[in-house]
Amino acid sequence: MISFLILNGPNLNLLGTRQPEVYGHTTLKDIEAMCHAKAKDLGLQITFEQNNSEGALVDAIHAARGVHSGIILNAGAYTHTSVALMDAISSVALPVVELHLSNIHAREEFRHRSYIAPVATGIICGFGAAGYPLAIEALNGQLAAQG
Ligand code: DQA
Repeated sequence: MISFLILNGPNLNLLGTRQPEVYGHTTLKDIEAMCHAKAKDLGLQITFEQNNSEGALVDAIHAARGVHSGIILNAGAYTHTSVALMDAISSVALPVVELHLSNIHAREEFRHRSYIAPVATGIICGFGAAGYPLAIEALNGQLAAQG
C-alpha cells in the first residue's frame, strides 16, 4: 500500500493561534484529520509528524526511506535556511512535495528563497490548510502515473 510521510516543521504545532491572519484558524490536529480523511478516500496510508528541531526533521526524512513512497514537507522557516534538509531530501531519493499554508512569494523577501524547492518534485503554497489534501492527491496522482 502507498504510504506518505507528512512532515511539519517549527512552530506549526501552534497553528490555530499562531498569526491566524496569515495561517488561518485551522489547528494542526484539524489538518491531520483532513489528511487522514483524504488518505482514506484514496486508499493510502499516511504518517503525520511535527517537530521543531532541524535535526529531528533530518532524522525523519532518513527514516522514511524504505517505509514511505513519498514525503509532503512543510519545513516552516527551515525552508529558507536549511541546507541540511535539502541534503537529506537528495540523500533519500524519495519524491517530496514542498508545502506552505501561505504564499511565501507574496510575503517578505527572505521567504522567497527555498532550499527545498530545487530538490522537490513540486510545490503547493498559498491555499492554507487545503494545501495538505491537495498535496496528497498530487503525489498520489504522480506515483500512479509512474505505475
Ligand atoms: C510556512 C511559511 C514559512 O515562511 C514560515 O516560516 C512558516 C510557515 C507556511 O506554511 O506558510 O513557519 O511554511
